[in-house]
Amino acid sequence: MEHPGEGTRNGGSFVVSCESVSFSYPGSGRPALSDVSFELRPGEYVGVVGPNGGGKSTLVRLLNGLLKPDSGRVLVSGRDPATEPFEVRKHLGILFQDPENGLVAPFVEDDVAFGLENLGVPRKEMRDRVAGAIRAVGLEGFERREPDTLSGGEKQRVALAGLLAVEPDILVLDEPTSMLDAAGRREVLAYLETLRAEKTVLHVTHHLEELVRSDRILVLNGGELVADKTPERFLSDADLLRENRLVLPVVQRLALEIGLSPARLRTPETLAEAILAKTESGTRAG
Ligand SMILES: Nc1ncnc2c1ncn2[C@@H]1O[C@H](COP(=O)(O)OP(=O)(O)OP(=O)(O)O)[C@@H](O)[C@H]1O
Ligand SMILES: [Mg+2]
Repeated sequence: MEHPGEGTRNGGSFVVSCESVSFSYPGSGRPALSDVSFELRPGEYVGVVGPNGGGKSTLVRLLNGLLKPDSGRVLVSGRDPATEPFEVRKHLGILFQDPENGLVAPFVEDDVAFGLENLGVPRKEMRDRVAGAIRAVGLEGFERREPDTLSGGEKQRVALAGLLAVEPDILVLDEPTSMLDAAGRREVLAYLETLRAEKTVLHVTHHLEELVRSDRILVLNGGELVADKTPERFLSDADLLRENRLVLPVVQRLALEIGLSPARLRTPETLAEAILAKTESGTRAG
């Protein structure tokens, strides 16, 4: 029997695997990725962080065959995106960092439907899926707007809706909330949370607080994968944070200041409970 942790080289129980992947952009003296290896298991929610230029977006482009590794190998659901990009893109959908480039159709609703058109989905189902995705990102009423006329955050939502409509098993999100207002960010993150049971997610971000509930966090710095850790371990490793230009989220900083373990307190609500428990036991002791 295959152990769930033992993915094999032909894909096995991993939905995504990178084996010693290296890549340099043509004409660039320095590799954008060097010898990067990791795996994603079905249903995992994995974060990717690291400084600007660390290689995060390059990794994203290698996962759907937009770029091909110079050496090493990427496998997505057992297929190599470098040789079968169209097959891979049915399973793995990407929200790119710059939403401007992705929007192509005359109206928002056509743009959201764009990825579905190629999949041969029946008309009625297509309409339902497009409407559902537009609702999920809070863009009702924008269906007949021209994508050119939208704000950055609205464009980012359209791109996310287009990805969700395709319903891929694997979602790769490159800074999905970078242009959203604070409430929009919360809404999108809450929506991603609801997908956890059914999707595998790779979430690139500069905001560690978006990853406190993830299964693992990968760190790319200078093209190298320098860490692959649980959030608990990650948040209590001050050196790792500093070396990678990351700062502890406010909840964890506050926890540290008052002598609580930062790694076990993930949300403001759990921190508030811990503070209350601490003050109550203090009152009893006094
Ligand atoms: N099209 C390109 N041509 C040449 N070099 C590139 C190209 N795109 C990226 N690079 C270089 O590759 C390296 C990795 O870039 P990448 O965009 O993957 O970083 P990143 O981790 O996504 O950064 P950020 O946090 O700023 O989005 C950088 O040194 C960057 O300058
Ligand atoms: Mg990037």
